[in-house]
Amino acid sequence: MKGPCTPDTERYALAKLAILEYPDPRLRTTARPVTAFDPGLRQLVADMAETMYDAPGVGLAATQVDQHIQLIVVDVSETKDQLRVFANPQILQASEETVVCEEGCLSVPGIYDEVRRPARVRVRAQDVYGAAFELDCEGLLAVCVQHEMDHLIGKVFVDYLSALKQDRIRTKLKKRRTRETA
Ligand code: NI
Repeated sequence: MKGPCTPDTERYALAKLAILEYPDPRLRTTARPVTAFDPGLRQLVADMAETMYDAPGVGLAATQVDQHIQLIVVDVSETKDQLRVFANPQILQASEETVVCEEGCLSVPGIYDEVRRPARVRVRAQDVYGAAFELDCEGLLAVCVQHEMDHLIGKVFVDYLSALKQDRIRTKLKKRRTRETA
């Protein structure tokens, strides 16, 4: 990763970050609040966005790139030009109405399954400069924000599935990793 301490000439170079893969125990880490809204944070956001778009994915939590701060990036647009950054996100309100959505995760490659979540959430967060904002989320944005926020408390979407399914997923990923290193 190219962090904030890289030479000036490379300061804004975008780096693809390594994504932790389930069941890596580091995915169970509880993230601490973002306190420094500095160039280092903005570099991390840029690198996370690059990593997410490259994957490709619609969301990424700092936890997934082994940075344990409360930070997520999301872009659910078709055109991939509507990056949203949430530092220290909190859910203020969640609808009673729920939706079932087929979810996937960059940390659980190739696995998709249905998860039920509140259909709408109102989120409070801070931007990369520390300014607070509130946002009403629905549809895929609501699902994605909740999925990414789960990562910040060490939770992966697989946790919502049956024990049997979780076993199968671990076996499948293990086989996949064995194939890749063979
Ligand atoms: Ni995920």
